Amino acid sequence: MQLLQDKIRDFGNVLSPTVLKVDAFLNHQIDAALMKAVGEEFAERFKDVQATKILTLESSGIAPATMLGLVLGLPVIFARKRKSLTLSGNLLSATVHSFTKNVTSEISVSRDFLQAGDQVIIIDDFLANGEAVRGLLSVVAQAEATAVGVGIVIEKGFQHGGKELRDNGVRVESLAIIDSMDTDHIRFR
Ligand code: G4P
Ligand code: NA
Ligand code: NA
Repeated sequence: MQLLQDKIRDFGNVLSPTVLKVDAFLNHQIDAALMKAVGEEFAERFKDVQATKILTLESSGIAPATMLGLVLGLPVIFARKRKSLTLSGNLLSATVHSFTKNVTSEISVSRDFLQAGDQVIIIDDFLANGEAVRGLLSVVAQAEATAVGVGIVIEKGFQHGGKELRDNGVRVESLAIIDSMDTDHIRFR
């Protein structure tokens, strides 16, 4: 997606060989026009599937997932990472280990919002090692729903999550795939 690649080149900051900072348009400040275009692009990529729900993970997946939900006219659910006052009972949960942050967290979705038979598109902002997506796939499986595809805004192609998911037969649509990066150059696939 050219518009997204341009944003990454113009406003992204390579913090280390493996970490790209995109706080200017995705992870802190949100470029709503870009997110709208992202939602439309996901809708185009997934036009052959009959989805019933969009599922993401708080917080940075919410903006792109919501824009896709708006285009497709579908509900958007975000898995919660923190315990909430009102989220209790009847939960679908999975453990997600972040290699980037070296923390393990539990993600949860209420059974009220994911049912057997749902056809789910999973959305996230970044794909690195794929732990978050694996957790969301587990939540979908526990609900006896089907994951019809995974949509990622930025995939770091030099980390193994995308390859592993695809090797396992998961359909992954990434709007930008970075093959390599350093402080003065980002190379896209
Ligand atoms: P994984 O799910 O693919 O295994 O990724 P990982 O555990 O490494 O990611 C942990 C968190 O760091 C996630 O955000 C993920 O989106 C983010 N992340 C991973 N690599 C990068 C990167 O290169 N740049 C940026 N900006 N973020 C990265 P999170 O903790 O869920 O936070 P948020 O959704 O609240 O923003
Ligand atoms: Na993030
Ligand atoms: Na994320």
